[in-house]
Amino acid sequence: MTEAVAFPQSRSCPYHPPTAYQPLRETRPLSRVSLFDGRSVWVVTGHAEARALLSDQRLSTNQENAAFPAASPRFKALTNRRTALLGLDDPEHNVQRRMLIPSFSVKRTAALRPRIQETVDRLIDDMVAKGPRAELVSAFALPVPSSVICALLGVPYEDHDYFEELSRRLLHGPEAADVGDARRRLDAYLESLIERKRAEPGDGLLDELIAERLETGEIGLEELVAVALVLLVAGHETTANMISLGTFTLLRHPEQLAELRADPSLMPAAVEELMRFLSIADGMLRVATEDIEVGGTVIAKDDGVVFTTSVINRDEDVYPEPDTLDWHRSARHHVAFGFGIHQCLGQNLARAEMEIALGTLFARLPGLRLAAPAEEIPFKPGDSIQGMVELPVTW
Ligand code: HEM
Repeated sequence: MTEAVAFPQSRSCPYHPPTAYQPLRETRPLSRVSLFDGRSVWVVTGHAEARALLSDQRLSTNQENAAFPAASPRFKALTNRRTALLGLDDPEHNVQRRMLIPSFSVKRTAALRPRIQETVDRLIDDMVAKGPRAELVSAFALPVPSSVICALLGVPYEDHDYFEELSRRLLHGPEAADVGDARRRLDAYLESLIERKRAEPGDGLLDELIAERLETGEIGLEELVAVALVLLVAGHETTANMISLGTFTLLRHPEQLAELRADPSLMPAAVEELMRFLSIADGMLRVATEDIEVGGTVIAKDDGVVFTTSVINRDEDVYPEPDTLDWHRSARHHVAFGFGIHQCLGQNLARAEMEIALGTLFARLPGLRLAAPAEEIPFKPGDSIQGMVELPVTW
């Protein structure tokens, strides 16, 4: 085994795994990484092992467990309230998940497509009216998912500047104090929104949950706030990063982009391959609650475990020539949406948003190109969800 690589690391190219993870690719399926606090944890890098372990109930997401690993100092600030869904193990987790599944079904998501298309069209109209130059993250990549999740939940989109800024601080800090403060403010915002909605109901998912679960006493206010927070934050930040980084990546792959423009029916396969290739949630954390044997190695109780999706999704045993962007392969079974009980609840919605946003953007702006040298465009650091900080474009 080689000397432990430090985790997390920033990428040198925004669409490839950090070069510092190269040794991890050579020691598949399991090796060690060291965290900022000097702790050494397991890193899972093999595709088959990742899927088996992500389905293993002996690996927990409970951040209140003192042995739960922290990827950076600021995540230690997140202990005041447990995260709904993602921070719970079964059976508690399953109760919340079942309450929400119908709202994220393929059918419900398909019904949202016209609304997503309308939003995308309107934002491109605005860009064209102000163009021919735009900063694509603020003009497009962020407002698409943000307005869609607002409509779905029944959160007023007029508040978007407020909750987007807080979500950014919750996920990206930079300081631990920012994270704790952002969490408290988001909790307070959602609590007062729920109180307002109790008096004046609307027609979003939050209104449904208030009427069917809160007023019936099935769940309490604190739990509903925690659920709303996860949905609001997970519902816009991640997809925004996929739209910005997906656009950047396609612009850097002109041959593939030309093929996609000529045949838009390839879009669903392209989105799936982009999910695999970009693996933007690059580091899922767990703690072992019992000893687990993996191919002769024992992950001991209380050991920390990290899943580096960018390395797992480039396992050459499953994806030949993994470093090539190629939607003619089957990218299915990637773990970019996670796997097992916590597999992304919003994945149908995210796919619909990405297909419509990327498809319409490239169809309506045939001359779309970067408005700055690619190497100078800032992208997110390794300890956050991957994506572009800014994306200057012209057409
Ligand atoms: C392309 C965009 C997205 C990506 C890459 C993504 C990625 C992920 C990943 C990797 C997980 C599992 C994390 C883990 O196991 O530690 C997850 C869970 C989750 N995602 Fe997403 N997500 C996306 C969009 C969305 C959207 C639009 C929503 C909508 C509300 C959403 C809601 C959730 C929720 C609620 C969970 C927790 C599920 C559970 O614990 O049962 N995500 N997501």
